[in-house]
Amino acid sequence: MKQAYEFIDHQYDVIIVGAGGAGLRAALGMSAAGLKTACITKVFPTRSHTVAAQGGISAALGNMGDNDDWRYHFYDTIKGSDWLGDQDAIEYMCKNAASAVIELEHLGVPFSRNEDGRIYQRQFGGHTIRQGESMAKRACAAADRTGHAILHTLYQQCLKHQSIFFIEYFVLDLIMTDDGRCVGVVAWSLEDGKLHRFQAHMVVLATGGYGRTFFSCTAAHTCTGDGNGMVLRAGLPLQDMEFIQFHPTGIYTAGCLISEGARGEGGYLTNSEGERFMERYAPHAKDLASRDVVSRAITIELLAGRGVGPLKDHVHLHLEHLDPKVVQERLPGIVDTARIFAGVDATKQPVPVLPTVHYNMGGIPTNYHAEVIKDSAETVVPGLMAIGEAACVSVHGANRLGTNSLLDLIVFGRAAALRASEVIKPGSPHVPLTKDQGQESLSRFDSLRYAKGSLKTAQIRLSMQHVMQQHCTVFRNEKHLTEGVDKLKAVQNTMADIQVNDQSLIWNTDLLEALELQNLLPQAIVSMSSALYRTESRGGHARDDYPERDDVNWLKHTLCWLGDFKVSSSGLTHRYLHKSAKDGLVFL
Ligand code: FUM
Repeated sequence: MKQAYEFIDHQYDVIIVGAGGAGLRAALGMSAAGLKTACITKVFPTRSHTVAAQGGISAALGNMGDNDDWRYHFYDTIKGSDWLGDQDAIEYMCKNAASAVIELEHLGVPFSRNEDGRIYQRQFGGHTIRQGESMAKRACAAADRTGHAILHTLYQQCLKHQSIFFIEYFVLDLIMTDDGRCVGVVAWSLEDGKLHRFQAHMVVLATGGYGRTFFSCTAAHTCTGDGNGMVLRAGLPLQDMEFIQFHPTGIYTAGCLISEGARGEGGYLTNSEGERFMERYAPHAKDLASRDVVSRAITIELLAGRGVGPLKDHVHLHLEHLDPKVVQERLPGIVDTARIFAGVDATKQPVPVLPTVHYNMGGIPTNYHAEVIKDSAETVVPGLMAIGEAACVSVHGANRLGTNSLLDLIVFGRAAALRASEVIKPGSPHVPLTKDQGQESLSRFDSLRYAKGSLKTAQIRLSMQHVMQQHCTVFRNEKHLTEGVDKLKAVQNTMADIQVNDQSLIWNTDLLEALELQNLLPQAIVSMSSALYRTESRGGHARDDYPERDDVNWLKHTLCWLGDFKVSSSGLTHRYLHKSAKDGLVFL
């Protein structure tokens, strides 16, 4: 017999959903500003996916004697975004980068050090001095465990500032009023099975990316884009979902990340002929060209039959020529990863690698104060913010530069806290929730909990992942994308036949994975449809049938809404505040 539910109600000034780098930085700032702050997270905070970020966080500190400057960083980020990134947001991020990183250092992040004791910085793809004149050393690194170091430090700081954590709670949905304000969330406690309503003056979505729509990705199994799913169900749009970044060096078959820091320290790629093929594709930047360029080059090599291994389906990353002491000191994590997941000793043998889904440039549209916007007039959704990979602010445009993601988390986590403390008076009263608010979400929860179909969640998820892997890949075209949309709709229809065997409420991972799949599938559909809609090539979106970038028609963002699984897209004006950087910005 179906069970009646009773909500446990809570009231806070602010609620943050997600405890990765962005969520924790926001929680820290909001708690420190005196706001009653709760952070709700489905995994223990230090297990959030930020822990996997390896190579560094970008800031033009110039610690390695290269005269770096935030304006070079600004230029590189715009160029790296293939001119689609919003320059007001990019300016804000790059200008604030140095202070954000120094603040992290003062909070306790154990950065590696250069010879004179300042933060160590390494090269990364697309980081240059004077618009490409030479490579910059801009990635501030804690060995190859930078995200790990940042996440642990921020969690400790949040505890110090009395942020309140609800750990291993799965947020089901936003609570929206009829006039479009967000007033809270509905959540399920995995530990004791109870259902909760959290009311707040501001809800901040910091729920990360949706890498798990793909079969092979560097993202954790928990990266199911839950906030994006909630936003679509609330009738709000997602932005630029066609832009999905492939990291050139995921470990062959396992998908785990081998940091770009490996090439930053002198590593290089070869094909089956032993050729350093990147010299042909990017004669200047070579192996440190931006990720979209390297991923496409590897894919072209494989298609030309120059892959390594019996199936000629991957390439080699070489670190054997580097001083083993440097490798052990600067890249200890990837040596372990290569040993465990590829069975090779990276100090003696090449590592087999392949472009692997790594990052979602698209997400919940926001302005650079982290406020969610809902249309091309940039109308703010009251009570709702988004930050980190869940958001599309858009500093990464069509392609993200390595190490700008940790920076995005920290700068916009802080920006959200600054904005919230401007617009919310600590302790201001709430309009009580009605009995009905949150009930719709419970009906959805119940229909999955008692689903008696014939297909297991894992079967449906695998079908979606194979479609994404085959049809929404490095190179795309109309035929493949159209087929992909149709196949995804067919997969979506099978959700009516899903089977959930465990009806309990405590640590019911069967139900949890079904709920996550309900978030993943719409994001897959929106991504594939947006890719079909954008008839040009730009950044991470390469169309065989439209091989050129088309600035006349496409220098704009796409917004997608989901209604009865029909996707509509419309242009959002690109915020282009500065003189066009590609016409040549002169900074210094
Ligand atoms: O390659 C890496 O270490 C990844 C960094 C990033 O995605 O920013």
